[in-house]
Amino acid sequence: LVPSRIHNGKFYALPQSPQIYKQLLMLSGFDRYIQLARCFRDEDLRADRQPEFTQIDMELSFVDVDEILEINEGFFKKLFKEVLNIDLEEHFQRMTYKEAMESYGSDKPDIRFDMKIQDISDLVKDCGFSVFTSAIENGGSVRAIVAKNASSVYTRKEIDKLTEYAKGIGAKGLAYIAIHEDGTMKSSFAKFMKDEEMQALVEKMNGKPGDLLLFAADKSKLVYDVLGALRLEIANQLGLLKKDEYRFVWITEFPLLEWSEELGRYQAMHHPFTMPMEEDLQYIESDPGRVRAKAYDIVLNGTEIGGGSVRIHQDDIQEMMFKALGFTMERAYDQFGFLLNAFKYGVPPHAGLAYGLDRLVMLMAQEDSIRDVIAFPKVKDASCLMSE
Ligand code: AMO
Ligand code: AMP
Repeated sequence: LVPSRIHNGKFYALPQSPQIYKQLLMLSGFDRYIQLARCFRDEDLRADRQPEFTQIDMELSFVDVDEILEINEGFFKKLFKEVLNIDLEEHFQRMTYKEAMESYGSDKPDIRFDMKIQDISDLVKDCGFSVFTSAIENGGSVRAIVAKNASSVYTRKEIDKLTEYAKGIGAKGLAYIAIHEDGTMKSSFAKFMKDEEMQALVEKMNGKPGDLLLFAADKSKLVYDVLGALRLEIANQLGLLKKDEYRFVWITEFPLLEWSEELGRYQAMHHPFTMPMEEDLQYIESDPGRVRAKAYDIVLNGTEIGGGSVRIHQDDIQEMMFKALGFTMERAYDQFGFLLNAFKYGVPPHAGLAYGLDRLVMLMAQEDSIRDVIAFPKVKDASCLMSE
């Protein structure tokens, strides 16, 4: 914030992103925009987050999802070739948000290794282990991962440590089957199960001698969080995360809206200007959570390095969106009338994306923290040592 000398009591402020501004450029007839934009956000710090960071910010008119993804794949291929002399694959993998959550428990899956999450709810819904059956009865699910060739690494003590880790994320426990090299099994819940139920489980999960099978039972969201984090933790412990291996994946079809307990209403998952998928528009009033968006993220080795969307360019759809977000039309026009009114004249369809430049540099430099690639970063407790 910079206080204004002319307008007493007013301040100049830097935005979270130049989202509206770049859209206004498209609306006024510029067909392409790119900028290195400084952004400020008051968020919790993480290894890949800083309050002050830089975006490579772009916007294009007359494009849809496919063109944006293609253009940006070209950008990465050129960037990695010129900077690191690495030839990237011709096309990056694409995955829907649903698939990412179900298979990796995360919307930023690290696909350098497999260890996918499997849903075994159907198989165990009538078994003898009440931890599993009651989770399902309460509307949750039972899911599992297989850590290949890990049963000798994870002794009882090490499994206890994993269990503590899982509890730190909110799990009530962590059930396991360790298959020893000789084919014998050790499990924390075998005593509740029939032999053939155990066999069916191992078979369904394709468990082989040497493998460690880990199970979480709870509300599905928590199960995803727990197994998604565990698969990363285990991969890290087993040395499966190679920093010089670059695996890109586009995540598409994000939900348009997510329910906020705190606000007691839906909020935009990406931002309020994101275009809903045409086939889902019919649910925006009756079942808002079901509507998917024309939004995409680019994920590199489990880190979201960029994200964007096709934008709404019609006033009626933008009005629907504001309504879903709890705006009265009066407030919508009061705050965003310049946009809604411009739409009435017919504006170019447009879409865009922004990269976190610092994050991208962090990964390309094979560093673990964004602080290592920023000259004067805010430190762990979010303070600035340079201007204390
Ligand atoms: P979004 O909020 O997803 O989208 O941000 C885009 C990218 O910016 C990076 N980023 C950050 N990097 C470091 N520290 C932070 N605190 C931080 N926050 C975000 C991430 C992220 O993927 N206007 C939209 C983009 C668009 O729709 O075109 C936007 O800002 O790498
Ligand atoms: P218990 O009968 O409580 O000793 O639990 C047997 C096993 O189930 C232990 O390995 C627990 O860690 C595990 N467990 C308990 N709750 C859950 C849960 N919600 N999901 C997965 N495993 C669990």
